[in-house]
Amino acid sequence: MGHKEKELKMKKLKITGPCKLSGEVHISRAKNAYLPILAAVLLTDKEVRLRNLPDLRDIKTMVKLLKNLGVEVHEEGETTVFNAKNLSSHEATYELVKTMRASIFVLGPLISRLKKAKVSLPGGCAIGTRPIDIHLKNLEKMGVHIDLNSGYVQANAEELKGTRLALNFPSVGATENLMMAGVFADGTTIIENAAKEPEIDDLANFLNSMGAKISGIGTSKITIEGVKELFETEYESIGDRIEAATYIMAGLATSSDIKVLKFDPTHLEFVIDKLKETGAQIDVLENGVHVKPSKLKSINIETAPYPGFPTDAQAQLVSLSLMSEGTTIVKENIFENRFMHVPELIRMGANINLSGNAAIVEGGHELKGAPVMCTDLRASAALIIAALCAKGETIIDRVYHLERGYEKLSAKFAGLGANVEVIE
Ligand code: UD1
Repeated sequence: MGHKEKELKMKKLKITGPCKLSGEVHISRAKNAYLPILAAVLLTDKEVRLRNLPDLRDIKTMVKLLKNLGVEVHEEGETTVFNAKNLSSHEATYELVKTMRASIFVLGPLISRLKKAKVSLPGGCAIGTRPIDIHLKNLEKMGVHIDLNSGYVQANAEELKGTRLALNFPSVGATENLMMAGVFADGTTIIENAAKEPEIDDLANFLNSMGAKISGIGTSKITIEGVKELFETEYESIGDRIEAATYIMAGLATSSDIKVLKFDPTHLEFVIDKLKETGAQIDVLENGVHVKPSKLKSINIETAPYPGFPTDAQAQLVSLSLMSEGTTIVKENIFENRFMHVPELIRMGANINLSGNAAIVEGGHELKGAPVMCTDLRASAALIIAALCAKGETIIDRVYHLERGYEKLSAKFAGLGANVEVIE
């Protein structure tokens, strides 16, 4: 472990609660939109300009991966400029892939551009096994020859052929990888049972801005007509709906009056409707929402692919439910093993029982500050929300998990008036 990395791993957050929040917070551009868009830079030998990349560890890892493959990168103010004219490698090594599963996004673009790719298998992950069989099986249908060897996916193709693909589950990553693979394919690729997450629309809009021909955006049937070349583009991705959901739930949990701005509230329509059913007062604005002090009651919620309740906001919802009157059942249908926040919340006095893929949350009991540990990105966001509500000091260890996905988290919460301190 290098000195800098060690320092990063030492960082803790101290939150003294209970806190009331006030004012407004500005949402960053979506990490999960920019990760596949960054990979798509590999498709073209023309310049790509991306505005306001969030300053996050996952984004830095993807940029590092691009540089390793020979992409030239430089900054011009808030714009990052990419040029993949001279690719020098077709290999994403274990060293990088192991730190970020989204590295698998380079598979589609590399095979499309270079007709070969070697990408390390992502391996186990804190929130379940997360296989990539849907990506691989459907690339094979497009004419890609796949070998799994010594922990690597080795892919070769003479030519990618457009064809009809039907996904057995609407996987977000597989939809994105196959869409990128289809851009230069011979003929038309149709993805049925495609995922419909807003980040997929964003990737399609980005690719179309370079000259790709993708239609059916936002539906479960995406059509990609192969093209011969792409052109230069400048793009800015959508606001991060999961970051927004996190601040909304932090506002509700602390019964605060805050505005969460600079994201598209239609991306959270289902979440906002569900929260309103609990009694949450949320006014929808053009570029965000206004959260008002609310008295919450329990309802049952389960996660589902978009437009359903996002698995990435499930942990935060468990913390919010601790502040509602009554018993809430939160069911996780997307990932196994995604309740790692629960034992940590129990350390703070929470009354939660796990039964299969459900958390049974008893709300309305006081939480008390305690030393707790981040385990994965969204589980950590749940700890922040609980700490804001708890009486006394909560020291949150392993904050680097949060830095994978929440830009300027402590500064944004401090800006809302939370009593939060970074301990180096
Ligand atoms: C993306 C998001 C992640 C979010 C998830 C679900 C990014 C970078 N990450 O992850 O934050 O939690 O969508 O909204 O955008 N599966 C298979 N085989 C496959 C692919 C997936 O069985 O080939 C399963 C997974 O194990 C999981 C489920 O499908 O149980 C959903 O995975 P998927 O939609 O692919 O999520 P990711 O793209 O990994």
